[in-house]
Amino acid sequence: MKKYNVAVVGVGAVGVEMLRVLHNRKFPCGTLKVMARRPRTIVVDGRSYDVVETTAQAFDGIDIALFAGTEGEKGAAVTFGKEAVSRGAVVIDNGADYRMDPRVPLVIPEVNGDALKNHQGIIANPNCTTAVLLMPLGPLHRAFRVKRVVVSTYQAVSGAGGKAMDDLRSQAASFLKGEKVIDFGSFPDQIAFNVLANNWKIDDQGVSNEELKVVKETHKILGDDRIAVSVTTVRVPTLVGHGESVYIETEKDVTPQAAMEVLRRAPGVCVVEADPQDGIAHCPTPLMSAGKEATFVGRVRADLFSSKALLFWVVGDNLWKGAALNAVQIAEMLIEKDWLKSTK
Ligand SMILES: NC(=O)c1ccc[n+]([C@@H]2O[C@H](COP(=O)([O-])OP(=O)(O)OC[C@H]3O[C@@H](n4cnc5c(N)ncnc54)[C@H](OP(=O)(O)O)[C@@H]3O)[C@@H](O)[C@H]2O)c1
Repeated sequence: MKKYNVAVVGVGAVGVEMLRVLHNRKFPCGTLKVMARRPRTIVVDGRSYDVVETTAQAFDGIDIALFAGTEGEKGAAVTFGKEAVSRGAVVIDNGADYRMDPRVPLVIPEVNGDALKNHQGIIANPNCTTAVLLMPLGPLHRAFRVKRVVVSTYQAVSGAGGKAMDDLRSQAASFLKGEKVIDFGSFPDQIAFNVLANNWKIDDQGVSNEELKVVKETHKILGDDRIAVSVTTVRVPTLVGHGESVYIETEKDVTPQAAMEVLRRAPGVCVVEADPQDGIAHCPTPLMSAGKEATFVGRVRADLFSSKALLFWVVGDNLWKGAALNAVQIAEMLIEKDWLKSTK
């Protein structure tokens, strides 16, 4: 089997999962180069990785570069992404820097994998909230033509990076000792034993940048900007796994049975159903989604007032389907379809 030289840039919350996913899925790695700002050795599941400082030259000979560094001007993808492409690598970036660039495909392989075909060297991974939402929304849109989506999110702290997970742990420990939490860390308020609807930067129209990402990325991935997308993003004190409460309005009539039929056939989606024996609505939780490849859908139900509307609950691992797993799946699809070579 042909092997590919892979670089993982960033060893925070996402980068570490990237290493885990590459190993678990037996990705055909030749050389595996791990980079970050600071060189050191890290150990993941008992395997040790030498981390080298990220430099332009380090991308020489790399076929696939998986970026999980921070975003923005001084972030890894802006500093080194184009340089890596010019040295022959295909870049798959987890950050927001390239997602809305019209030359960059924004891809969830199960939903719009064909968009990879004409990539020009850089490919973007969606925001974790968008990825979890679109795993069921994509197939439902294809089957029933979604006209409107209203979604409220229950986002785990790991969505804000590795340090945010430590912040939750230390706030929870202080709170349980009866101490007042004074250091909010990565958050605008106490996150332990609390829920924050103001976790992201809010614009002058009252919309958070996280909410806007979900709107724009949904339009780009589904190739349909007529869908009305209304989002409220909320940070909750869970470590891993984003939950989303979703209401959709459709052009065609939709029933829970028909929707579940579509979702049962959708790759990567697992429908969790009520047990007819005990009548209890078994329901996916963030905890059960952690470290799982599937995106779980539950509580699919009719809207009591319309035959063209539906409600459901979806949960997915933000670090896996929302980031690392999706990126590795993109790389796998490029190899499988022979689309690795840039068309630039
Ligand atoms: N967390 C999620 O659920 C999630 C989901 C989807 C997308 N994303 C995106 O994925 C990216 C990584 O997120 P994360 O949560 O893993 O962040 P993180 O925990 O803060 O880790 C960031 C990593 O990037 C490295 N880094 C930062 N700037 C760099 C630079 N200029 N050059 C090279 N390496 C650099 C850091 O190196 P050092 O360790 O040496 O400081 C660190 O290892 C972000 O763009 C984020 O928006 C995250």
